Parts: sequence; C-alpha cells; structure tokens
Amino acid sequence: MGKKVYIETYGCQMNVNDTEVIFSILLGNGYERTEDIAEADVIMANTCSVRDNAEQRIWGRIQQFNSFRRSHPGLIVGIVGCMAERLKDKLLDSHRVDLVAGPDSYRSLPELLSRITPTSPQINVLLSHEETYGDINPVRIDKNGVSAFVSIMRGCNNVCSYCVVPYTRGAERSRDPRTILAETRDLLEKGYKEVTLLGQNVDSYYWKDPEVGEVTFASLLEKVALLSPTLRVRFSTSHPKDISDEVIYTMGRYDNICKNIHFPLQSGSDRMLQKMRRRYTRDWYLERVAKIRSVMPGCAITTDIIAGFCSETEEDHRDTLDVMRKVRYDYAYMFQYSERPGTLAALKYPDDVPPEVKGRRLEEIIALQNELSARSNRSDVGKVFEVLIEGPSRRDSSQLCGRASNNKMCVFTDSVHTKGDYVKVRVDDCTSATLLCSLITDN
Ligand code: SAH
Ligand code: SF4
Ligand code: F3S
Repeated sequence: MGKKVYIETYGCQMNVNDTEVIFSILLGNGYERTEDIAEADVIMANTCSVRDNAEQRIWGRIQQFNSFRRSHPGLIVGIVGCMAERLKDKLLDSHRVDLVAGPDSYRSLPELLSRITPTSPQINVLLSHEETYGDINPVRIDKNGVSAFVSIMRGCNNVCSYCVVPYTRGAERSRDPRTILAETRDLLEKGYKEVTLLGQNVDSYYWKDPEVGEVTFASLLEKVALLSPTLRVRFSTSHPKDISDEVIYTMGRYDNICKNIHFPLQSGSDRMLQKMRRRYTRDWYLERVAKIRSVMPGCAITTDIIAGFCSETEEDHRDTLDVMRKVRYDYAYMFQYSERPGTLAALKYPDDVPPEVKGRRLEEIIALQNELSARSNRSDVGKVFEVLIEGPSRRDSSQLCGRASNNKMCVFTDSVHTKGDYVKVRVDDCTSATLLCSLITDN
C-alpha cells in the first residue's frame, strides 16, 4: 500500500492547479491521494503569502497538523507553495515541519519525501527559469468534471511594489503551446466543457520556435477556442498595461470565449498607480475598458482593489471610488493593503495609513461595489443566456446551477438536463450573488 497524501490548498487558482500537479507527480510515484485527513500519512499545506492574514490562517492550521503527530507516529507534515518559498529554512527553525518545498521544486517531492527522517527534514526552494510542468497532466481534484484550470505560464516579471508573488513564484516563463493544447484536448476527451487558462499576467504569454512559429496570448486563445465550439474558454489574469487589441478582438470573434475579463485596477489614483508600479494611468485603464466595451458590449469586467496603500490620501481614495463608478464593475475582490516583507514597497514606503482608515476606506469600497454588483445583476433581468450546467444548486438541490458566459451564477428548475449540458435560460430576477432564471425549452 502506498502512503496516503492529504493536501490542503490556499491562495489563488494557480495554487489549486499546482496541487493537481503535485498529485500527478506523487501518484506516479506510488503515493495515494486521500481526502480524509485522519488517515493521511503525509499532510501538506499548499500555501499563500499574498497578504499577512492569509499566512496567519495557515500558521494556525500547521499547528493543528503538528498536533496530529501524537496520534499518528511517523506522520509527515509539509509546507509547499508560496510561504515555503518566502520563508525557506526559517520554517524549519521556527516550526516543526518535515518538508519545505517551493513552487518550482515539485518534481523532487518523491525524493524529498523518501529522505525524510525525524531528525532530517528536507527542503527545496530553488526557483527555476524553465520549469512549467508542461509535460505533466494534472490530476483533477475538483469533483464537477465540467470545468478545469490549464496553466499557460508561471512566475511574474512585473514587480508591482506591493506584491510578493514575483519573489515566491520567480521569473515569468511561458509553457509550450503544444502541451497546453494536448492537455486541453485530453480534458475534452474526458468530457470537460470549460477551461480557464491561468497565468499571473496572461497577456505577456509568448512562445516562439521553428516548428510552431510565434505564439502570442491572442493566438493561443484562438488555438484553444478552435479545438471545439462546445468548449468554453476563460482566462485569468489580464494586466491592464498589457491587454492587446488582438486579445479583445479574438474574444469578440469566438462565441466560446467567455465574455468576462478580470481586470485588476488596484487603485484609481495616478499617484498610487505610479507608486504601485502598475505602469498604467487611470486614463489608460479607462480607455482599455472603453475598447473592451466597444468590441463586446455585454462583456463583464471584474477587478481587484487595494485600500490604504502607502501614503494614500482621501483624494486618492475618492479617485478609486470614481473609477469604480465609471467602469461599473460586475464584481470585485477588495483588500486592505498588507505590507509584505522584501517587496519594494516594504523597503521604500512606510505603511502609514492607520488601520482604522484602511478599514473605513475598504468598507466604502465594498459598499459601493455591492451597489454596482446589484445594478449589474438587475440589468441582466429579462436577458437570455446560455448556461453551462455545473450541477444541483447548493441552496436548493431541486434546482440546477451553472454560469453564463459573463461568469454569473444562474439557478433554474430543469428536470431534463444534467451537468455538462448547455441550456438557454431567461433571467427572471436576481439576488446579490445569483441570477434566478427559467429554462427556455426549444420546440
Ligand atoms: N497577477 C494578478 C494578481 C496577483 S495577487 C494581477 O496582477 O492582478 C491577487 C490580488 O491580491 C492582486 O490583484 C492585489 O489586488 C492583491 N494583493 C497583492 N498583494 C497585496 C498586498 N500586499 N496587500 C493587499 N492586497 C494585495
Ligand atoms: Fe503581483 Fe503585479 Fe505580478 Fe500581479 S502583475 S502577480 S500584482 S507583481
Ligand atoms: Fe497565488 Fe498566493 Fe502565491 S495568490 S501566487 S498562492 S502568494
């Protein structure tokens, strides 16, 4: 019997996909996967460092994992992912863990695990300029079998001043397009209906070789969309400085490329954007939004916003609210600025907005976004959408749920279709999070 591995995943979609890569590597080396932590021989946390509160939550969990050792002699506890990369051997000194493995070291996990003894923990936090796990077919950990992540690149070269990701994930590198297409074809054969192409900055995807020629993100998107008209294609994340007209036109040309762009603003103030090293201005950002809307009038636009970055004034904050009103985001992820050790901002700018001011500004941002999200949902009432069914609704299992192209969750009654089917629905009403719909039956 192989050792049983339990992995708990924190952070972004890329971490979720990395957990699938880790399972693929371990299952190929005689390990088994378990979803029951009580029977695990190896427990790993695939961790996130993006904000301090993310890390604090994980610390609590590691302590719990360590407490399981009492009832499970020989238990291996490991930290992998971004915290492993950020804190390196400090994790071995300060916490009792057996394994520390960074995001580019997963191929060495079988070897590291085999070398662990109670007195010799193992660590590999080397970052790579080439590793993309391109040849590895991830073991899907989701249960729905409809929608999957496909990584198209790793790392990030942007060095936004607040952000730890370039340090935890290393330099940007693109994955061989042949392996991206092969993985997507394999998903199609297995019955998947939707892929989300993942990268920290998908617009800077670039590949060139004599056989395939030059592949940009726009041309990659097109190649994936052409694999099958019944495959939905999504992607994340676009960087406002890099999204090209070609990408926008390609989205517009293919019905199966979903009409939703995650377009992180971070701040609406030019002064803040410059300090954040985002390398665009609010006018540039608004022009890109206008371009997206002119090509795809119904395209949903979602965003990330940071409240209370270094030296942010009330005026800067109002600029953010102002851009939010102008863009009318469909949805947003909103955060208080959290200083990350080692980043440019931590080195150069004092984290000087008092916590209560950050908190109040975040509240204002959230309140405004709630209004905008409600308005966006109301504006969909009466429209007809094609929905890809994901399964029974979580609230009411007699109903089905699935997403429209704009990524909004639709709930409706339907006793004929099942998960993986496409259906047409009409939006009758909405809540803050869901569109309440009725099935349109063809006759
Ligand atoms: N590559 C993506 C997002 C990476 S991290 C991009 O460029 O948009 C996801 C989000 O976390 C960021 O968009 C940002 O809004 C937020 N974030 C990153 N670092 C942060 C920090 N130090 N404090 C608060 N929020 C942060
Ligand atoms: Fe971080 Fe900026 Fe890279 Fe996104 S683009 S991962 S925010 S450095
Ligand atoms: Fe993702 Fe968190 Fe790492 S957001 S890239 S898991 S720091």
